[in-house]
Amino acid sequence: MRLTRLLHLARNRRPVRRFRDRLVEPDMLEAVLEAARYAPSAHEGQPWRFVVVQEALTRHTLAAAAFNHPHVRTAPVVIVCCARIHSHVSGTGRPSFAGDLAAAAQTMVLTAADLGLDSSWIYGFRESGVRSAIGVPGHVPVVALLCLGYHDGLSDLPERRAREEVIGWDRWGANRKTAP
Ligand SMILES: Cc1cc2nc3c(=O)[nH]c(=O)nc-3n(C[C@H](O)[C@H](O)[C@H](O)COP(=O)(O)O)c2cc1C
Repeated sequence: MRLTRLLHLARNRRPVRRFRDRLVEPDMLEAVLEAARYAPSAHEGQPWRFVVVQEALTRHTLAAAAFNHPHVRTAPVVIVCCARIHSHVSGTGRPSFAGDLAAAAQTMVLTAADLGLDSSWIYGFRESGVRSAIGVPGHVPVVALLCLGYHDGLSDLPERRAREEVIGWDRWGANRKTAP
């Protein structure tokens, strides 16, 4: 296996437990957001719409909507990741916005890591609470919150499932015939 800088970052990013009281430099934030704009999306639909929340009062309202999760309470920046729901529907009728937004969020996560920033995704929130805190229209789904900042404590690297468990070669669950 070839080890690249990006692979190193992906492998060694550790989960944040909470964030320090330190602002994110504006040029770093801009770089993270710029990376998201260049994420891939189905038919280049680019359905993502982001709201960058830094105002303390709004962050606290968001935290309340996210069950007072410590990441949301302590992060100096919370990026609310929303989507145009009818962005694009694949041939099967499956909407693609959730996948598109995941691509954008993970691109932000890796860019942040490259800049020495920490981040954490949050799915656990009351959508109506987030929507009313920042004025997202009713027809726009809120897909995720991405907390950004500098960590104040990291957890251990989560154990990863074995390669054989998660990767099949040519057939579901099949091992590779020859050693790499
Ligand atoms: C789609 C998605 C949703 C997540 N939602 C939450 C959440 O609601 N609350 C939470 O504490 N962590 C959430 N996480 C963070 C994961 O638990 C985290 O990825 C895991 O602890 C491993 O940490 P790492 O991503 O920093 O390696 C979410 C992660 C992903 C990818």
